Amino acid sequence: MQKLNKEPFHTCIINSELTYDIRKKILWPHITNGNYSIEPDDFDSTFHLGTYFKNQIISIGTFIKENNSKFDDDAQYRLRAMATDKDYQIKGAGRNLFLTALQILKKKKIMMLWCDARLNAIPFYKALGMKSLDQIYQIPNIGPHKTMYIYLDSIK
Ligand SMILES: CC(C)(COP(=O)(O)OP(=O)(O)OC[C@H]1O[C@@H](n2cnc3c(N)ncnc32)[C@H](O)[C@@H]1OP(=O)(O)O)[C@@H](O)C(=O)NCCC(=O)NCCS
Repeated sequence: MQKLNKEPFHTCIINSELTYDIRKKILWPHITNGNYSIEPDDFDSTFHLGTYFKNQIISIGTFIKENNSKFDDDAQYRLRAMATDKDYQIKGAGRNLFLTALQILKKKKIMMLWCDARLNAIPFYKALGMKSLDQIYQIPNIGPHKTMYIYLDSIK
């Protein structure tokens, strides 16, 4: 797959509404009521990242302060609704977004980031240093998932 020019992406915090287009197209095409929000979107501790190519958002992710009882640590964040526009996948946009998030979370003194990873997305998360728990579980309407996680003290 052809890579785009060096460093063509810019990732920054965006409003939740700006995630809806990619959520609709890439993540939740089964939704028919037009509601692409999730409850934690507007929590004070939640932040949304968008990766821009030129003036267009091509990758999104939502970061929520939520502990997973599978882990002992207190200071956890959860990644939800991570996706890259189909025309721009495998060009480094998701990596740019994810690495920006890790720096923000480190500044917040968060210890660990976790997510429910779709099986097709596991190679992406692994490429970024996440590890997975063994169990596979179903999420209705979406499919099989594994829990993945990364400790922030393991990255620079
Ligand atoms: C998963 C997803 C977010 C990855 O975003 P992306 O912008 O395409 O990822 P990048 O181009 O930044 O890839 C980063 C690394 O992951 C690897 N990678 C990404 N997707 C991959 C895949 N499907 N299979 C294998 N490796 C993959 C890339 O090769 C790259 O590795 P490298 O840096 O060692 O070359 C994107 O494919 C997507 O939106 N998929 C559909 C929705 C989805 O499943 N979201 C996750 C929900 S849990």
